[in-house]
Amino acid sequence: MILAAAERCETRDTVLIFGAGLLYDIPLADLLAEFKRVILADLLFMGPARQVARQVPRLKLATLDVTNSLEALAGGTTEVSLPTAYLDDPSISLVVSANVLSQLSIVPNEYLEERFGQTEEASEELGRKLVRAHLDYLASFACPAALITDEARIIRDRAGAETATISALHDVSLPEGGESWNWDICPLGEIDREHSVTHRVRGYDAFPKNQK
Ligand SMILES: C[S@@+](CC[C@H](N)C(=O)[O-])C[C@H]1O[C@@H](n2cnc3c(N)ncnc32)[C@H](O)[C@@H]1O
Repeated sequence: MILAAAERCETRDTVLIFGAGLLYDIPLADLLAEFKRVILADLLFMGPARQVARQVPRLKLATLDVTNSLEALAGGTTEVSLPTAYLDDPSISLVVSANVLSQLSIVPNEYLEERFGQTEEASEELGRKLVRAHLDYLASFACPAALITDEARIIRDRAGAETATISALHDVSLPEGGESWNWDICPLGEIDREHSVTHRVRGYDAFPKNQK
């Protein structure tokens, strides 16, 4: 999906990747071969990304809160800002959001519930705002954008029958199109012996502009 997005790029300057994490999902060698520079943007970097960055000067690590809201949320507000980082950087040829969208609300909501007694309803509302702001942000880049995200979590019993399906995006709908596939993230036995969890993932190699 990411490499298909790369093929759409008019320039081969910089790839910007949000939520690079441990690099499990990122075809880094191919991207480094095709582009001048790759910027990994994440809240924090662990060993794998740091190690490659030490060896490859064209790989940059950018510590970034992609929501542009965590500092305010830490103070107890539930206001969400529209992120603007890199929007005015003409060197960005491709932007990729790699399995970060569903994660944006998890820690802030846990924190606000624990520290400020935020209600479940308010957590859902904040989650929706964070998801929408990220989708708007991606759609605002002038260059091609790719989005890969889990959109639903499907719980199955021992016999494989679906017992619940929960939105991973606080019921925010993704745009039409893209491709959908299942990720058996917790096969039977991983959480417990009664349930398995599958994530339904959706990916866009050309995330639509100016749509939510
Ligand atoms: C499920 S992991 C992504 C996996 C990754 N794409 C890979 O290839 O291994 C989610 C990532 O999102 C990052 N993340 C969560 N909230 C973030 C935020 N507000 N800003 C930037 N990164 C964030 C986490 O640090 C984590 O690395």
